[in-house]
Amino acid sequence: MRALGEAIRDAFLIDPGACTVNHGSYGATPRAVLAEQDRWRGVMEAQTSRFFNRVLPGALREAAARLAAYVGAAAEDLAFVPNATTGVNAVLRSLALVPGDEILMLSHVYGAVRNTARYVAQQTGARLVEAALPWPRPDAAEMVASVGAAITPRTRIAVLDHITSPSAVVVPIAEMVALCHARDVRVLVDGAHAPGHVALDVGAIGADWYTGNAHKWLFAPKGCAFLHARREAQAGLHPAVISHGLGRGFVAEFDWTGTIDPTAYLAIGTALDFHASLGGTALMARNTLLAAEASARLAARLGTETGHGNGIGGAMATVRVPGSATAEVALALRGRLMDAGCDAPVHALGGALWLRISAQAYNAAADFERLGDILQGVL
Ligand SMILES: Cc1ncc(COP(=O)(O)O)c(C=O)c1O
Repeated sequence: MRALGEAIRDAFLIDPGACTVNHGSYGATPRAVLAEQDRWRGVMEAQTSRFFNRVLPGALREAAARLAAYVGAAAEDLAFVPNATTGVNAVLRSLALVPGDEILMLSHVYGAVRNTARYVAQQTGARLVEAALPWPRPDAAEMVASVGAAITPRTRIAVLDHITSPSAVVVPIAEMVALCHARDVRVLVDGAHAPGHVALDVGAIGADWYTGNAHKWLFAPKGCAFLHARREAQAGLHPAVISHGLGRGFVAEFDWTGTIDPTAYLAIGTALDFHASLGGTALMARNTLLAAEASARLAARLGTETGHGNGIGGAMATVRVPGSATAEVALALRGRLMDAGCDAPVHALGGALWLRISAQAYNAAADFERLGDILQGVL
């Protein structure tokens, strides 16, 4: 594996003066990937009509095929979307729900996804139900059981995070999907954090729909994500934006949703190559180890605990921080960290405050020592 940490930082545009330990929120795009995106911008702007009519349709499908092969899917079942939020909106807003139907989510669901479900519930008379994720240090079997306990005869869809946002838990997603299917519940997996973070095989997970971001852990430019729909789950599915492709099938509907800059999608091959050049699965394992060690060290410094254990961690980890566990206190602490030159999300979970760290290729143990210094100063 190539030398990582400080040795690789110059491959990114990251401010050397900042304490960058929050890859999970928005990712960081390597210079090489941005250069490939720029190259495509040049092709686009040289002859826009030719690009959109003649070049883009084929180039988009080629890019989709590369990404599909990486995530274990067939290219014709995968379409690009600008972000996971858009993927979630497409699925939830395509459902024909009736009053009393239930939308099941994990209690650690991402706020924007909860809002989307709430909006759909308001429009249709459906109800939101949350499965309480055990916390901290959840056990895989307990997590699956909490989903099972929340399913009722009215559950129409389960929206399950592959990796939770506030708590950074890698959930036993295949087991949860199997359980939901056994109980006749369709599943949308929100894999916003999964591609490039954990080994991903969308086909093996078997969800009806899976959306994931390439712009977080897979090094793609911002605005590069995908929606996968199993063949049987494509009927009745429409993008959040309706355009020329209406009624012409999954690929036609999703490949054109109006004029946008699609160059983030077209740079996916370079992003995948970059990820592989840093080790691919070895990089993911290295990041997971770094996050585990760094969170344990931070917890020791603070005299607290980590949220992880039981093998449910990935390249993000959480540490309990002292303070009263309200959303306002969490937001204020994150603000003070940002003022001090560092960013790390803080959430109130299970009666305590939890700080999330991310370990990506450009990070090393020293970054988290610096975070610890800043955090102790701020606290
Ligand atoms: C679990 C989860 N879902 C969805 C999203 C939304 O991602 P995006 O802003 O790329 O749509 C995030 C973002 O962090 C997330 O953590």
